[in-house]
Amino acid sequence: MLYPLARSLLFGLDPETAHQLTLRALEQGAQCGLIQPGKPVATRPRSVMGLNFCNPLGIAAGLDKNAVCLNGLGSLGVSFVEVGTVTPRPQPGNPRPRVFRLPEVEGLINRLGFNNDGVAALVERVRHRTWTGILGINLGKNFDTPLNLATEDYLAGLRQVAPYADYITINISSPNTQNLRQLQGEEALRPLLQALHQERLRHTDRMGRSLPIAIKIAPDLEAAALRTLADILVSEQMDAVIATNTTLERSAVCHLPRGSESGGLSGAPLHSRALDVVTILAQHLNGAIPIIGVGGITGVSQARAMLDAGASLIQLYTGLIYHGPQLITRILKDDANR
Ligand SMILES: Cc1cc2nc3c(=O)[nH]c(=O)nc-3n(C[C@H](O)[C@H](O)[C@H](O)COP(=O)(O)O)c2cc1C
Repeated sequence: MLYPLARSLLFGLDPETAHQLTLRALEQGAQCGLIQPGKPVATRPRSVMGLNFCNPLGIAAGLDKNAVCLNGLGSLGVSFVEVGTVTPRPQPGNPRPRVFRLPEVEGLINRLGFNNDGVAALVERVRHRTWTGILGINLGKNFDTPLNLATEDYLAGLRQVAPYADYITINISSPNTQNLRQLQGEEALRPLLQALHQERLRHTDRMGRSLPIAIKIAPDLEAAALRTLADILVSEQMDAVIATNTTLERSAVCHLPRGSESGGLSGAPLHSRALDVVTILAQHLNGAIPIIGVGGITGVSQARAMLDAGASLIQLYTGLIYHGPQLITRILKDDANR
């Protein structure tokens, strides 16, 4: 009810400032009891990646890159929150401005470039979390780490977050780190996943629990490449695929004032492509590993479509910017009534 008013104020500010203010207010509200402390809302429970989710809805990576708002986001009713992308060393990201609203189509373009406080700072925050929902930690590589050394960055991230993450995500699909998406090709991908799996085994032995690994992929892959990639994920014992990250495609928005900004496009203009990717993966994987669907979920119908296409879980980002926490309430209510 209040969100349309808050949104008109927030949309008067530059997108990054508005984002930081919102996260801060939400976290403070949760910490001082203005917002009821987080309890995930139970709708239709499911086991995914060996973890028990009480509803299918989570927060996508990038919304809380540094884990500064876990209690706040957790209080919204989602069953899981994915923080990051975090890199081994802190880095400032690309020069501003680097986030652009496309309100005509409920879209966003960002070229943030993994701005984050680094994995040590993130670990310090998640160690002290009181929120009890499922925590995913999304890992990336530093912008100045050469691609042939990327594995070392992902391994360093894994080692540090393993004790605190319920699952980790390997982000090889951001369009804003030069050549990162090349890691989706078979030649680079297999050795990366093999190294991650070996490292994960060392930690699961020590921790006495599993550490599922999800791989986040781009929407800008042809169907044949998607199938090859899916086969690699299965054969290298990955636990889930997250589809999708933002797109480089601009045909739906290039006529808009900000539609040709460089970066990744998210929100409503991404939805049909993200849904296609989930559909292709679901048909090909046939349940071999679960799919986490993300991309342009701005209402109940898109959430339903992702789940009906074969996603076991779904995530939100841009839809929340346009519709606020009501979007979560509406999707969860719909899910409970199915
Ligand atoms: C401003 C912004 C920053 C993002 N940062 C990250 C990130 O750090 N890591 C990541 O894996 N995805 C990131 N994403 C991608 C989202 O997690 C999501 O995959 C994508 O935006 C599609 O979902 P949406 O249409 O619901 O936003 C970012 C998206 C936006 C809009």
